[in-house]
Amino acid sequence: MINKQTIQTIFETARVEEVVGEFVNLKKRGVNHIGLCPFHNEKTPSFTVSPSKGIYKCFGCGKGGNSVNFIMDHEHYTYPEALKYLAKKYNIEIEEEEQTPEQIKQLNEQESLYSLNDFARDHFVEQLFETEEGKAIALSYLKDRDYREDIIRKFQVGYCDESWESFTKHALENGYSLEYLDKTGLTIVKDDKKFDRFRGRVMFPIHNLTGKVLGFGGRVLKSEQSKAKYVNSPESDIYNKSKSLYGIFFAKNSIVSKDNCYLVEGYTDVMSLHQAGIENVVASSGTSLTTDQIKLIRRYTPNITILFDGDEAGLKASFRGIDMILEEGMNVKIVMFPEGEDPDSYVRSHRTAEVHEYIEKNARDFISFKTSLLNKESQGDPIKKASLVKEIVQTISLIPDGIFRTFYVKQCSSIMKVPEQTLMNELNKLLRKRFKDKVRKQEREEIADEEAETLTEPQPEVEGINTESQERELIRILLNFGSAEIGFEQEDERKQMVEVPIKVALFIINDILNDELKFNNPLYQKVFDDYVAEVNQNRIPPDRHFINHDEQELATLAIDLLTSRYQLSNNWESKRIFVPTEVDRLKDYVVSTLLNFKAKSVDRMIMDNQKELESAEQEEDILIFMKKDMELKDIRNKIAKDYLSRTIYK
Ligand code: CTP
Ligand code: MN
Repeated sequence: MINKQTIQTIFETARVEEVVGEFVNLKKRGVNHIGLCPFHNEKTPSFTVSPSKGIYKCFGCGKGGNSVNFIMDHEHYTYPEALKYLAKKYNIEIEEEEQTPEQIKQLNEQESLYSLNDFARDHFVEQLFETEEGKAIALSYLKDRDYREDIIRKFQVGYCDESWESFTKHALENGYSLEYLDKTGLTIVKDDKKFDRFRGRVMFPIHNLTGKVLGFGGRVLKSEQSKAKYVNSPESDIYNKSKSLYGIFFAKNSIVSKDNCYLVEGYTDVMSLHQAGIENVVASSGTSLTTDQIKLIRRYTPNITILFDGDEAGLKASFRGIDMILEEGMNVKIVMFPEGEDPDSYVRSHRTAEVHEYIEKNARDFISFKTSLLNKESQGDPIKKASLVKEIVQTISLIPDGIFRTFYVKQCSSIMKVPEQTLMNELNKLLRKRFKDKVRKQEREEIADEEAETLTEPQPEVEGINTESQERELIRILLNFGSAEIGFEQEDERKQMVEVPIKVALFIINDILNDELKFNNPLYQKVFDDYVAEVNQNRIPPDRHFINHDEQELATLAIDLLTSRYQLSNNWESKRIFVPTEVDRLKDYVVSTLLNFKAKSVDRMIMDNQKELESAEQEEDILIFMKKDMELKDIRNKIAKDYLSRTIYK
């Protein structure tokens, strides 16, 4: 954990125009800088950077944020990764939150494991290229498979010689401990014996996102068919098989620029495709994909194309795994290779242009592919067909986006010759069931942990009464116009009506606190509480308080609200100076938004109370709820009158 102080220093130091300027050619235009948006294709610049606010905003695609968000978006970094990137750029020393001795030990241990793996990789590479055994057995094997030297070097492929413990000995001589040799799995330690795990194998290092070596895959040479084809490093503190993907380090830039990721099975497939100039490719290493691996890819693109080398039966076996990809909201395509070919063999027997052409021509959308395949099998068998409908709809129901679901329903209806409505009904049944299960699960969890808050998701609304837009608007007003002043008539000491100015923020806060109103959306409530805390310190928080907030979700919301189009059309950089008519309008707007919010909140209370009333059994209770009902309705009427009087006055 990077500590708060460091985060603040990074925010204060990292000037947005400098951070963005490293990636975008910016030109000064008035107080802002403009340039071509790096997040979408455009010919005329609509990407604006405001140094005074510390934010960027694209009016073409809507992306916006502070300097840390920019690095996250542009470089596909996580929040801590982006902070570290900026800290490095500005030479800021990162102070981590105090760590327990246990954590420090673990960190040191991880560093030691990485450094041992680096050492091993360098040693194996040297063995491959510099020793007689390596050259004669391993390098010649790789060359026989037509791998170019630049590709072998790029992937840092190496060779572990055949003797029982020459690597282990070499490492120990260089000061590496047996404990770590054991933990990385490079050495197998049994009682008092120790020997090299990867004897006589070609070594493929497995890298993480940033190029560090997590572990190895070792392949036997062609001649020895009695042994397992691959031996892999065991899981360790640094190697978690289900969270890593072979090739991701070499693929990530290309995945972003192609906006697609090819998924293959093996190490050699990845290398061969690179050799053919196709670099947006990763391997699942022979197992089916895990959710973590899918999320890793999704950091770079929502599109996956699976290059499949099995037969139809094998493909059907992997359908469930592919459903998981859809569940993550990604688009999946399938390319089937000809019988008996995998990407690696195909690349070797075809010219590069043919490989590209084959993949492009044969990429098929997964859902329609699956539908056609199953449809073919169920021809003339109504029972099979019914279960096929269920299966396809089940797959479609996993897609989080409703528009895509509708699209696929249409498509499948035409492939299967089943009425769209039939599919729709089945789909809705599934969605309802899943929704119910989810709610039930949530309820169970809530009971288990009353503290658990779901801050990011909008809260389910009480039937029909929705205060979301009023709440959002109030927060928007607070952030944008908090320090503006509006006037109210009041009696002075001499009982004369005078206009007293009051800051918008104080007016709103007083009103809401007086009436003890709560925001339904916890995120808005959080901003409000934070704002109130600032006001209690006698300050109206400036924009940067929220823009650079160390809680990401607050910062994101603030940036969104501070750059909404509405305000921009009112001159983004006007420093909140209002001409009189606008101040008038502001006052009116503030008051009516508040009243609206109150009215709806009271409506909700009335409804809640009526529910209690319906289920109450004791006479006393019934009386209490009835009384409350009357009181609430009174309040409601008063608000309505307030509202009317305001609108009549205007
Ligand atoms: N694999 C493994 N252990 C095995 C066999 C396979 O871990 N005993 C994993 C490896 O990651 C391998 C992938 O599954 O890369 C795909 O297996 P396969 O297609 O058999 O190997 P290739 O990498 O294609 O190797 P080659 O082309 O040399 O046969
Ligand atoms: Mn293979």
